[in-house]
Amino acid sequence: MNELAWHRYGAELRADAPPLVLLHAFPLDARMWASTISVMPEVPVLTIDAPGFGASPPVEGGLAEAADAVAGTLAAAGVTRAVVAGLSMGGYTLLALAERHPELLAGVGLLDTKASVDPPQGRANRLQMAEAALGEQGAQVVAPMIDTLLGQNPAEEVRAEVRELLAQAPPSAIAWAQRAMAARPDRLEALAQLDVPALVLRGAQDATASLADHQAMASALGTDVVEVDGAGHLSALESPREVAAALVDLYARATA
Ligand code: MLT
Repeated sequence: MNELAWHRYGAELRADAPPLVLLHAFPLDARMWASTISVMPEVPVLTIDAPGFGASPPVEGGLAEAADAVAGTLAAAGVTRAVVAGLSMGGYTLLALAERHPELLAGVGLLDTKASVDPPQGRANRLQMAEAALGEQGAQVVAPMIDTLLGQNPAEEVRAEVRELLAQAPPSAIAWAQRAMAARPDRLEALAQLDVPALVLRGAQDATASLADHQAMASALGTDVVEVDGAGHLSALESPREVAAALVDLYARATA
């Protein structure tokens, strides 16, 4: 198993308290959590780069294998139980973790994501983007995504940060992730099997994952949807204080 790259922030890791593990969105990397982490110094946080993104090596297979790699990476770091939160693609990976490694999870946070599968056209678009990323267009293929990732009035510095992260996305990782996301199954049932504290959060202007998607996950987990006003799909970048407050609350419930 290839170990993924992980990064540690906030309070010291303690053997008797699980860390908060944050899984990032497509096609960004773990740096997208910087502003959220900066306002929650009291929590021990680990971020992990998805396969092929940031400093992580690629992984053979799809999101199930990515979830295995997350579990293996945490085990190698001495973490056997964690509160895990994932935003969008990070949420898809968390759903695969819930299915394959439920014993690892002390709490779950699903942000701007969905448990349902893509419609056929959505899958076809993903496969087309994978091909284009591996061709002449390279990372430029994700540049137009900025309009669907952010809400209606993003701060200029957030827009600039996302533009920069999009430009740095490795084409091979873009292709891997799009193929992996196109192939993901519905994993709502895996959530219904969990009995741990949960957070389901959505930027109220998220153009990618609907309120109905979030309500389905919240209902499976026996919780309510938290909506963050004024934020789009990348809620953690647009409203880091609100998202951090919700994550701190999840962490407190999961470690009480
Ligand atoms: C993400 O933010 O990770 C992507 O929007 C996920 C997706 O394409 O479904």
